Amino acid sequence: MACTFGPPGAAEVDLILIPWYEDDGPAAVPALDAATGGEIARALNTREFQAKPYELFIAAIADRSWRTRRVALIGGGRRLESGSEIVRKLATAGGLAGRQRRLGRVGFMVRGQGEVADLTQAAAEGLTLAEFHAGSYKTTDPAPAPPPGWTIVVDGDTEKSKGGEKIREAAARGRVLGESSNLARELANEPGNTLTPREFAMRAAAIAGDAGVKVEILDERMIAELGMGLLLGVARGSSEPPRLMVFRYDPPGAPAKPLLGLVGKGITFDTGGISIKSAEGMERMKDDMAGGAAVACSMRAMALLQAPQRVIGVVPTTENMPGGRAVKPGDILRSAEGKTVEVINTDAEGRLVLGDGLWYARKLGATHLVDVATLTGACVVALGKITSGLFGAPPSWVEQVRRVADRAGDRVWPMPLFDEYRDQLKSDIADFMNTGGRAAGSITAAMFLKEFSGGLPWAHIDIAGTAWADEAKPYLPKGPSGVGVRTLASLAFEEFDV
Ligand code: BES
Ligand code: MN
Ligand code: ZN
Repeated sequence: MACTFGPPGAAEVDLILIPWYEDDGPAAVPALDAATGGEIARALNTREFQAKPYELFIAAIADRSWRTRRVALIGGGRRLESGSEIVRKLATAGGLAGRQRRLGRVGFMVRGQGEVADLTQAAAEGLTLAEFHAGSYKTTDPAPAPPPGWTIVVDGDTEKSKGGEKIREAAARGRVLGESSNLARELANEPGNTLTPREFAMRAAAIAGDAGVKVEILDERMIAELGMGLLLGVARGSSEPPRLMVFRYDPPGAPAKPLLGLVGKGITFDTGGISIKSAEGMERMKDDMAGGAAVACSMRAMALLQAPQRVIGVVPTTENMPGGRAVKPGDILRSAEGKTVEVINTDAEGRLVLGDGLWYARKLGATHLVDVATLTGACVVALGKITSGLFGAPPSWVEQVRRVADRAGDRVWPMPLFDEYRDQLKSDIADFMNTGGRAAGSITAAMFLKEFSGGLPWAHIDIAGTAWADEAKPYLPKGPSGVGVRTLASLAFEEFDV
């Protein structure tokens, strides 16, 4: 990904994308209107182009002194909202348009409110996200056209005079974060028969390991030695053995504490087990490992970007199947921590494997916890498909995670965890049940996880609605979204408030 400094006319590309906001007049980008022979003023006057979000207006460049033959204005809506969030989305939408037109070189001009470095990083993330290709098993599909080469165009004299080093770094950072998100999307898109727990562990180990993260894969024997009865309980129904992935990122010279512990749900396919799901839409449950993929791929990003914080990642992975030895409703499982769980519904498997995962992150010395999981349908009911649920304690830690997620472009919204919700998990026979009834389903799931957070600062992000797009949006094609990767990676750059 190239980064150039100067006016758009100097960029050597086939098409240059220019974010355009609703109150931008024809002269908003100097010399542009003249270079198009007045096309921009005309389109704005006739309201042919209104700069509504993702609206595209392509104009030829008549001026022979310009290096690009065409410009594409891409509508960004109201200027008040023209920060990194919309720039990232405009870059993806524009990048997808450039890819569709099979262009070789596409420029993106950084325009918006806020720090130029932040906007540049968002642009690099967005363009890279547009490169995602959801691999295909169609034997008749031709190989996809390679994505265009991207050039980020920064029109700033001050930045140029400083050599633009900060801006170039921001672009490189955005590139790595975008690539890491795409790797997580590839994993989530892989069908369950290809991406078994063993295969998931191998691929995640390669992705993180290649970036310099230390990786350890525990097999079913080692998992049993640790006493992880919850993970083993879920795995019982499958003939594929479970795995526990452990990632360690130790930047040289970083103090022992704080140690950020990331835990991701890694169910490579969720049939529901004996409490089997209905057939309708069950194929979607191949992405029930999206949280685990986010953990692995975020650790790749932080290692490549040399984040300052120490981080460990823990990803329990298994299938949830209704085999002859499967866990049954009423069965009682004993967690590695020693707490007992009455399994009411075998489809509430995510919280079980995460319970042992959170315990292991603590055992390895984590001082702060964040887990990411496609955990509950109830979260989709509450927040829909564009916002992840955010839960946890204490409020200062949750608030810090919320801020980081916001900046990373992962929409989250806080949900309450009042103590009274815990009553819904009371069991007659064990320490607690694994479900709490229909009411507040995403909250009782989080309350269950809280039992395994050992009182540490802990945040839980429920990505059941956001991990997969059912419908294409201009800035997000149908399929896996890579949600969480950028948030988790960015956390490794934070100084923790608690
Ligand atoms: N993986 C599902 C949650 C899910 C649902 C993710 C829809 C994405 C889309 C999870 O394991 C599950 O089955 N949860 C149950 C819990 C219930 C049995 C308490 C659910 O949400 O129905
Ligand atoms: Mn389930
Ligand atoms: Zn699940």
